[in-house]
Amino acid sequence: MLTGAGISAESGVRTFRGAGGAGSAGDGRSPQGGASIALWYEHRLEDVATPEGFERDPQLVWRFYSERRKLAASVQPNPAHLALAKLEERIGERLFLCTQNVDALHEKAGSREVLHMHGQLLATRCSKCDRAPFRDPSAYESPPRCDCGALLRPHVVWFGEMPFGLAQIYRALEACDLFVSVGSSGAVYPAAGFVSHLRHLGRARCVYVGLERPENAHSFDECRLGKAGELLPSLFRID
Ligand code: OAD
Repeated sequence: MLTGAGISAESGVRTFRGAGGAGSAGDGRSPQGGASIALWYEHRLEDVATPEGFERDPQLVWRFYSERRKLAASVQPNPAHLALAKLEERIGERLFLCTQNVDALHEKAGSREVLHMHGQLLATRCSKCDRAPFRDPSAYESPPRCDCGALLRPHVVWFGEMPFGLAQIYRALEACDLFVSVGSSGAVYPAAGFVSHLRHLGRARCVYVGLERPENAHSFDECRLGKAGELLPSLFRID
């Protein structure tokens, strides 16, 4: 199971692309690839979502993520998040839940095992030392520092950085017989390539659930178009 920004849309979190999205088309194809100039929540993606942007102006980056942290505190999971938490209750570790979202709505809904491949908004880590990332809901006006003296940074994956957990994700894909992607535009790699990898393996049925056909729609067996909060509970027969 792969979730993207669309699963949190009904909770009031803006998506990056698609209707009501916070960014604009073509805002970088890959967290590891080059990012082009685009607006991202009214900021240039380069300024707030790249390691270079953080080096240039850590205060701007921290203000940006602090605002997003404040918003995150007030949002609640919707029926799509709740359906996935119930699905985990029912089938346990046969469900592998990987999200591109940095919000904590899956956890708020009760999901226990969630792989956040693009990091977590409510976590912080050191930009230099190997101190473990820690939970941190704080909003900062100026950039906080680690005990080692270096700047702390949000524990999120920026453009030009490697997503987390790829080895674990690819192991799960190898073992997968049903792949469901929810609310992801299929524009950002490597997540957008999971479905074509499965196609190549030829063992899993691949279903997309979301408002509109994603860019990688051709690789899915089926696209169910509609709101995640309305479609997911019935897809998994959860009431
Ligand atoms: P996008 O914002 O690219 O796509 C969101 C998708 O959700 C769109 O296709 C919408 O049509 C769909 N959608 C909107 N409302 C929905 C609803 N109620 N139910 C179902 N679908 C709905 O989001 P992602 O594909 O997750 O990366 O974006 C991937 C990455 O791009 C993000 O993780 C972020 C961003 O740059 C990083 O920060 C590294």
